[in-house]
Amino acid sequence: MSTDLSKITCIEDLRVVAQRRVPRMFYDYADSGSYTQGTYRANEDDFQKIKLRQRVAVNMEGRSTRTTMIGQQVAMPVAIAPTGLTGMQHADGEILGARAAQAFGIPFTLSTMSICSIEDIADHTARHPFWFQLYVMRDRRFMERLIERARAANCSALVLTLDLQILGQRHKDIKNGLSTPPKPTLRNLANLATKPHWCLGMLGTKRRTFGNIVGHVDGVADMSSLSSWTASQFDPSLNWGDVERIKKLWGGKLILKGIMDAEDARLAADSGADALIVSNHGGRQLDGAPSSIEALPGIAEAAGKDIEVWMDGGIRSGQDVLKARALGAQGTMIGRSFLYGLGAYGQDGVTRALQIIQKELETTMAFCGHTQIDTVDRSILLPGTYPGAVR
Ligand code: GLV
Repeated sequence: MSTDLSKITCIEDLRVVAQRRVPRMFYDYADSGSYTQGTYRANEDDFQKIKLRQRVAVNMEGRSTRTTMIGQQVAMPVAIAPTGLTGMQHADGEILGARAAQAFGIPFTLSTMSICSIEDIADHTARHPFWFQLYVMRDRRFMERLIERARAANCSALVLTLDLQILGQRHKDIKNGLSTPPKPTLRNLANLATKPHWCLGMLGTKRRTFGNIVGHVDGVADMSSLSSWTASQFDPSLNWGDVERIKKLWGGKLILKGIMDAEDARLAADSGADALIVSNHGGRQLDGAPSSIEALPGIAEAAGKDIEVWMDGGIRSGQDVLKARALGAQGTMIGRSFLYGLGAYGQDGVTRALQIIQKELETTMAFCGHTQIDTVDRSILLPGTYPGAVR
């Protein structure tokens, strides 16, 4: 029986419930940025500065948010972003997220650092195609096996993350002693005692550690600490030559994630990848970088027509999706908006988050005088309130 979520009317409602239900270390892991968290905050704040032009007496019948991302039909220009430790926000979180996305008609991206494995997702979605996000690892044989596993699981695109060769410091994770599963310290046990719903879910699943990694790499028994694993395994020497090699090895649709600079956008376009994602990793890597929405117009201009441009970072409503579309993003990705829904109510919460975003998108688009998402452009924005392409 599904929960009645009709009184949950915005993403903030889901965030509040998620904060109550998810153990502190995992909620904080999802909902924080690096260092001062300036970029993390700017991602949301900068959307608010952009104003929309209201149009009236325009026929609003026949509205549609349907479009394409890398040629794939989507119910709205939104995909679920890859997020680490998703299965710690809610038991079997990645499976639930993938199912919700599939039913809604948008893409789901599984993170390398997920709790449920690539094979888990394939098995629980009747091998419906999903996307796999890859980190470049020092152990190239392991990385190649991940690519082979993604192919065997029917993944229809590879999302290559380029901005996490090393990890930006997130103060809360250090203070909370982030690990999976959590260590049985007095502080953790006291916090878990206040999360009965979460604990019950975790007792009912066997998936409590990194499903793509543990058991697949020789000698890796304990990788409970994300930061020490990252430091030892992610390859700091990653370069554009690796992108070319991975593109050849994969042979399918390739999406490059983490582009924040016009020069890198050109390199991404020249690499022959299918899409790039303007992303500062949710403000979790280079604190002090501009917000994604501020960076978007310059990157869209530099990238030109050779590659699709998407963005993520700070999207908490359908209005944000519309503003990103207006500023040149063919698609967007949601991380935290998805995780709040998941942490609050599992699969139903993710579905609710998607419904909320789509309704806001469709309504706002109509108020701006458009019935089709594909006709939206910069003219829906009030001049002087949005970032320009040339600064
Ligand atoms: C991983 O992608 C992280 O940001 O922690």
